[in-house]
Formats: sequence, C-alpha cells, structure tokens
Amino acid sequence: MLVVLSVGGSILAKELKPESFLAYADALKEISKEHDLVVVTGGGVAARDYINVARSTGSNEVECDYIGIDITRLNAKLLISALGDAAYPRTPHDYIQAEDALSSGKIVVMGGVIPGQTTDAVSAILAEYLKADLLVIATAVDGVYTADPRQHPDAVKYETMTPKELVKTVMVTEMKAGSKSPVDPLAAKIIERCNLETIVMDGSDAQNVLNVIMQESENNEDKKEVYLGTRIIG
Ligand code: UTP
Repeated sequence: MLVVLSVGGSILAKELKPESFLAYADALKEISKEHDLVVVTGGGVAARDYINVARSTGSNEVECDYIGIDITRLNAKLLISALGDAAYPRTPHDYIQAEDALSSGKIVVMGGVIPGQTTDAVSAILAEYLKADLLVIATAVDGVYTADPRQHPDAVKYETMTPKELVKTVMVTEMKAGSKSPVDPLAAKIIERCNLETIVMDGSDAQNVLNVIMQESENNEDKKEVYLGTRIIG
C-alpha cells in the first residue's frame, strides 16, 4: 500500500523539541516496513510567526507563502534527520521529484511546493499524482466536525463522510469568521475529484497514527471503527 501522510506543523513542531520528531520517526519506520510512505510536514507556529513578521515588514502574500514553504521544508529536514538512514536524504521540491525519490525505497519527506495553498493540498495532490491507496491527515483536531469545534462547542464529529460532504462542510466552516477547517478547501476539492480514501485524525500521538495506518492494511472492517477520526470514502 502507498500511503501519503500529512503531519501538521502544529503537531510535529508544537514546541520544536527533538522528542516529537523522534517519536514520529519511530512510528514512520514501523509503517515503512509494510508500506511505501511519503510524509508532508506543515509549518506550525514558526511558519505563522515568520509570516506575521514578513507581512508587517512589507512582504506581499506570495512572499509570505514562500517563507511559509521554507519553514515547512525545515520541519521536513528535521524529520529526515530523526529518520536517519530510513529517509530519502533530501526534501523534494515538487511532485515529480517526490516520485523519483520514492523509487529509492526510502521514506520520502517534503514540505510545501508553491504559494497559494497549504501542505494539506500538497499531500492531496501528491496522493492523486502518485495514485496513493490512502491519504492520512494527522492534525490538531480529531476529525472533521459540522463546524469548527473551537468556535462551536455543539459541533458534531463525522465518523464517516463522502468527499462531496467534506467539500460542503469545509466551505461552510471556512466562510464563518475565525473558523478553520481541519482540511483546507483545495485539499477537499482534490480529495473529491480523485475520490481518494482519506482519514483525518488527531496526530498528537505518533503511535496512534501508526496503529490507524497498520489497521487499514489489515482490512478488518470491525477494527476500522475503533479509532477516533473521520474517514472520507466515496
Ligand atoms: P501549513 O501547511 O503548515 O499551513 O503551511 P497551516 O494552515 O498553517 O497548517 P497547520 O496549521 O500547521 O495545520 C504553512 C504556510 O506555508 C505556506 C502557506 O503560507 C501556509 O500557510 N505554504 C505551504 C504555501 O504557500 N504553499 C505550500 O505548498 C505549502
């Protein structure tokens, strides 16, 4: 099985400590014993801080995005460092480079690609391009809700949803001031157009991400209901 895993910067580099990179590295090495794996790392708080300073000092939004991309690639490099020999040693800068890197048989880790999107979209486009079997979005929220649960405590989590429902939910959430969806709108549209099996889950525990991915390959329908998260299937 080919798996594309998006790990939010808010998960991997919440406080920029070696432990979170090493914990993810251990889990990724386990997954890679069974599956081909490409990981896309987000920028987290550092990206936001750098972008805020750049914006305040006069950078336009595209320039800010390039700074964000740099930070996502720095996080990718830290994860490569934690993975050691198990990782492809460089961060691909586009989807074709990622495909080439994958033929090394190693875990491929990359960050952002072009301005105007987030790493959620990178992971979805990459999964479509590589014809991945599964996209996992490991984020700070434990699934997709009817509204942003941080703004609306009465929001309800979807256990499963179709890609079409995902697009609708994401659009409605993003339209509300201050609300943020766990999947960005472009990523949702990509997931819809290629009908990509996707899991959105809490990524704070790398072992949990490992368990979910390993469980998928066991193809056990009963077990599929066990974890916390949202499954998107067409
Ligand atoms: P992230 O994917 O980390 O964005 O990229 P995010 O929404 O802040 O994600 P979370 O909160 O960690 O889950 C950081 C920034 O890098 C730029 C964007 O400015 C984005 O906000 N970026 C990233 C791009 O412009 N293009 C890319 O392909 C990736």
